[in-house]
Amino acid sequence: MLVLGLESSCDETGVALYDTGKGLRGHAVHSQVAMHEEYGGVVPELASRDHIRRLIPLLEKVLAEAGAHKGDIGAIAYTSGPGLAGALLVGASFAEALAAALGVPALPVHHLEGHLLSPLLSRDPPEFPFVALLVSGGHTQLMRVGGVGAYELLGESLDDAAGEAFDKTAKLLGLGYPGGPALARLAMQGGPGRFRLPRPMLNSGDFDFSFSGLKTAVLTAARERALTNAEKADLAWEFQEAVAEVLAAKAMAALRQCGLTRLVVAGGVGANRRLRERLDADAAAGGRRVFYPELELCTDNGAMIAFCGARRLMAGAHPGGGGAFAIRPRWPLNELTAG
Ligand code: KG4
Ligand code: ZN
Repeated sequence: MLVLGLESSCDETGVALYDTGKGLRGHAVHSQVAMHEEYGGVVPELASRDHIRRLIPLLEKVLAEAGAHKGDIGAIAYTSGPGLAGALLVGASFAEALAAALGVPALPVHHLEGHLLSPLLSRDPPEFPFVALLVSGGHTQLMRVGGVGAYELLGESLDDAAGEAFDKTAKLLGLGYPGGPALARLAMQGGPGRFRLPRPMLNSGDFDFSFSGLKTAVLTAARERALTNAEKADLAWEFQEAVAEVLAAKAMAALRQCGLTRLVVAGGVGANRRLRERLDADAAAGGRRVFYPELELCTDNGAMIAFCGARRLMAGAHPGGGGAFAIRPRWPLNELTAG
């Protein structure tokens, strides 16, 4: 069956076609970064309006790429939460309307479940069970994943998410939006020694995180005097190192506690090279293995939503129907069940 996936929870419009027999047939993403850049962050109303503009052209592009027609679509999966209410509504109403017109089921999908399952789309997918480290702009969570829908929350950020900390710290250092990739680039020019930042909650004995103090420590260092570019790069290096060290240490501790050897990393911060290096090194030292989604599927995309919808349909999920639908701007992942 050909499943159409639609992602519109924040500032990326993602459309993809996943074939339950042949795998991913096509996917396309439009990022709104350039549009939001001048405001220094996502403007929700602009995001919603842009999703409206992008969905149809992206759908046509992906259909052409897959050599398919609308009539070939057997089901439509869309992100129904968590995310920006207006942006979610665009995807949800588009999906439900198209599903009604085509006479196929529409399936609401949890955005984080999409991220969580995205490494299964890679050429060398992990087997269940595994520990998942979800590191996005809105979430930092460690979960034990027993199978599709079996998610046990082990710990999470008590304040800023890892991506949020990257973005805010980048802003403090005068880098543009979105800050994560820009900060990572600056950090590549820096090195250790000049600054020492805290490793928040490294030894707290649980699986929770806190990143807002780190951001404040950067602010304090940056305010003491005007930093040169070389100093800013060193500060960025140290910030990235602190985040990577805490994330890697807690992920390894979670593997130990669960008695598992497979770690799956998902979400935008999972694209960070230094974090990957650390995780890979720590895992290899303990006979463990880390699985990542393909780099282009780390940040928001429609492929993970199409795949998640397909897995749910194959597991016997019952889509709604009758054109009624709901979005869930706030939606804890551990409320999901396998059914
Ligand atoms: O998963 P995602 O695309 O969107 C959410 O669902 O939040 O993650 C976006 C987040 C942003 O905070 C962005 O700055 C961060 O991921 N990010 C990075 C990198 N690439 C994206 N953070 C650090 N290093 C990167 N290379
Ligand atoms: Zn995301």
